[in-house]
Amino acid sequence: MGEKDITIPASGARTAPPRGAESKAFQKTGVDLLIRFHIVDKIAKIYDTKNDAFQEQGKLLFESLTAKLKEKDEASFRVRHGALLLNGVRLKFSVGTYGIFKSVLEELRTRDVEALTFLPGLGLDELCRFMSLFAKRDKKDEAVYAQLVADLDAAGVEHVELEKISAEEIAQGLHKNTARMFFLSIVHLKESFARDQRKEPIKINTTRRLMQSIYNHIVEDEGFVHGLTNIKNHDEYTLNHSVNVCLLATSLGRRLGLSRSEIVDLGMAAFFHDLGKTDTPLNILNKPGRLTDAERVVMEQHPFHGAEKLVLLKEFRHLPLRAIHVALEHHIKEDLSGYPRYYKKDDINLFSKIVKVVDVFDAITTKRVYRTTDFTRAEAMSLMLEQSGTEFNPVILKAFVNMMGVFPIGSLVALTSGEVGIVHDINPDPKLLLRPSVKLITDAEGNKVDGEVVDLAERVPETGRFRRTIAAPLDPAKYGVEVADYFLAQAL
Ligand SMILES: [Fe+2]
Ligand SMILES: [Fe+2]
Repeated sequence: MGEKDITIPASGARTAPPRGAESKAFQKTGVDLLIRFHIVDKIAKIYDTKNDAFQEQGKLLFESLTAKLKEKDEASFRVRHGALLLNGVRLKFSVGTYGIFKSVLEELRTRDVEALTFLPGLGLDELCRFMSLFAKRDKKDEAVYAQLVADLDAAGVEHVELEKISAEEIAQGLHKNTARMFFLSIVHLKESFARDQRKEPIKINTTRRLMQSIYNHIVEDEGFVHGLTNIKNHDEYTLNHSVNVCLLATSLGRRLGLSRSEIVDLGMAAFFHDLGKTDTPLNILNKPGRLTDAERVVMEQHPFHGAEKLVLLKEFRHLPLRAIHVALEHHIKEDLSGYPRYYKKDDINLFSKIVKVVDVFDAITTKRVYRTTDFTRAEAMSLMLEQSGTEFNPVILKAFVNMMGVFPIGSLVALTSGEVGIVHDINPDPKLLLRPSVKLITDAEGNKVDGEVVDLAERVPETGRFRRTIAAPLDPAKYGVEVADYFLAQAL
């Protein structure tokens, strides 16, 4: 059994997709083949190859494969961007076959298999041996793929080839789920705000489950979560802003060493920190230009309204008490200035201090009708550092800077090489905060490119010097770059 080591074009298509009637026939025989594969896979989990049902269904699968191998010199299933391809053509599922598609995709993924190729010369016995070994190896561990390949070799399976799942495919699957979580959060918050307006109960248990899911995504896919916080929605500012604040607060809570349950509580508190804004009139919330003193008084009531709404919730007992602190205190500064002004206390809650940092960061990096300038992510970091100790708690701010890097994920940067790129991930070494990895979007001549992701910590071997260095942060709006699109594209 030989392992293929070939490069497939990005589309995964080796041949032009068939059209018209040919396409219909291709889909039908392709899906039939998939169903037969699925049936044998299920049987092979329970019975050995000598079992009658195994033999009978194995024969049917063999016939389908033989027919496919007559059309082309291989029958190859491939997982690509969460879809299933047969010989480079995407198989289409229907309501009736969706479960089978899902099951086969899962079977391949569990074994770290990206492609499974049957070759001419395959015999019925060999196919049954393969199916038996494939079906029974369902325990997910690091070496699952290598063990499967070794077992197939030992069993003399020579006409079935496997390809290991690529890092890109793994990341894409992960990002897809993370993006889904992001949009689910927006939908849930929107529904919560609407329920609050209608005086209906908010589904706090759903919020808690969502926060647990957010925590898991941050553990597995933190850089991408930070990338998604570049998504801003100017029409529904409070929704996107609240979700961004929730994601960044959860991430920061983890950096600060809070326990999982504390982080879930922090996430809930951050999620609802601006709930009081649902009572702020839209003409004040979205007013272009400066607020009058009277309008400012109304605006500055949102912490009270938020805290009051949370206290009055029927589901209050399911809510962390600290959510109320956060709603009330998130505009109070480290030196206890800010608002509410007549809220007298010696100190404010730790959660409020965490939310304060991420709240300001998200707010000042979002273009708003009433602000003539917004800041790039890099400018926001240096601006906030100037307020360390007065507006922000210095320890929390430092942890935030270490988490985000000097050039946070999503920053547009000009490089000394003349190229321009988007910060893709920060360098995990705190000494190399100025050297993130960057996705190149223009070449040195300024031509738009779909470039690679380069590591700015990479040195030129001959000179020992860094190959590329950030020359300056750029304003994406001025360059017409929609940074959020880049992150979303990774999840498609
Ligand atoms: Fe607020
Ligand atoms: Fe806010």
